[in-house]
Amino acid sequence: MGCKLRRGFLLLLGALGWNAPLAAQDQLPAGQGRDILRADCTFCHDLSRITQSGHTRADWTIVLQMMKNAGAPLRAEQIGPLTDYLAQNFPDRSPPAVTIPGQVRIAIQEWTVPTPGSRPHDPLAARDGMLWYTGQMANVLGRLDPKTGRFTEFPTGTSLAGPHGLAEDKDGKIWFTANFAGAIGKLDPNTKQLTAYPMPDARARDPHTPVFDRNGILWFTVQNANMVGRLNPQSGAIRLVSVPTAHARPYGIAIDPQGIPFFVEFGANKLGRIDPVSMSIEEYALPNPESRPRRIAIGNDGVIWYTDYARGYLGSFNPKTGRFAEWPSPGGPRAAPYGITVLEGAVWYSESGVKPNTLVRFDPKTERFQSWEIPSGGGVVRNMMATSDGELVLAESGINRVALVEVK
Ligand code: HEC
Repeated sequence: MGCKLRRGFLLLLGALGWNAPLAAQDQLPAGQGRDILRADCTFCHDLSRITQSGHTRADWTIVLQMMKNAGAPLRAEQIGPLTDYLAQNFPDRSPPAVTIPGQVRIAIQEWTVPTPGSRPHDPLAARDGMLWYTGQMANVLGRLDPKTGRFTEFPTGTSLAGPHGLAEDKDGKIWFTANFAGAIGKLDPNTKQLTAYPMPDARARDPHTPVFDRNGILWFTVQNANMVGRLNPQSGAIRLVSVPTAHARPYGIAIDPQGIPFFVEFGANKLGRIDPVSMSIEEYALPNPESRPRRIAIGNDGVIWYTDYARGYLGSFNPKTGRFAEWPSPGGPRAAPYGITVLEGAVWYSESGVKPNTLVRFDPKTERFQSWEIPSGGGVVRNMMATSDGELVLAESGINRVALVEVK
């Protein structure tokens, strides 16, 4: 990446508090890989980002491909020794998956995406049956035809856009948040034409998750800027508002059956409700102060579901009664529940902290869990979505795959 771009990127990451503290550097175990780490891995993010990770050798290989795509100046001959060093000193320490048997049968089909180190961040089930994903580090939107296994990659048109979340409008255009570029983009898959909608406020650097309401208004979170926004596709106008709680990190967002946007605060133990007209925000505190809800899904009955990433819980909130309910996730306190959706009345989510990652189904009527291991390991399913045919699509960021789950 060019110098100017890199500076922009460093500013971005520096603003996230990712400057390498010397303490973490001093604690690095000796070895050939240490020099490479110090030279090539410390200028975008804190070393703790690496030292707190744990991966198998195969998964470290994919991490290095992602970092190379992001702009890490790794030379070919450095990759072997660095991979060995990382695998030896930072091995996978995830607790094992816990699976719960049950009546539901599923079949999980997985595909590796074309560009190595793409980091498929979010999936989208388009109405025409296509499976889309954001290739965050490859800077592409990807489309898979699950019937033929054929992939098409669409460049984002902006260097280092960091495509993150996806939403389809009623005309089949694909909208995405350009998380590294402070913009929202629109792709016409037929003409490949791209339109960019830059944030009107320079502070809103990192648009995160987008979702359309039934009037065709695009709502989105801006995590580190601590804002939520609304984009009117007719006029292109964007309006942003700040979240009342400081450093709340608005993350997942979903629209309820009345057309009200709700979002979860990954930096607090709160849910937020946005008035769709005034954009005023009302916050609701989750029962446990340690909770950090990451993703949200809303069923046809208006009940809100969230994954409590920090505590390993599944939670629900009923806006009609104001009541919360919570259940410990099968994988335990380190299960790190993440991507979540509602499909035909059942809640589905993935546990990203266990090895292999799991797919979990929760039946709100019986309050019973059923869970399965994801065959490839899952690689952190950051988001999932239900298709109109009653299937699920997943993006498997850390192992460069996407998946389709058939529910029988
Ligand atoms: C040019 C910038 C840049 C450089 C240099 C860089 N990284 Fe990263 N790294 C990123 C970005 C961007 C992310 C993802 C941030 C996000 O969105 O969460 C990341 C995330 C990570 C993660 C977490 C991965 C995940 O999926 O959560 C690890 C581990 C990591 N980097 C390791 C490294 C290593 C090892 C090096 C040195 C070879 C390195 N990074 C150099 C930009 C960089």
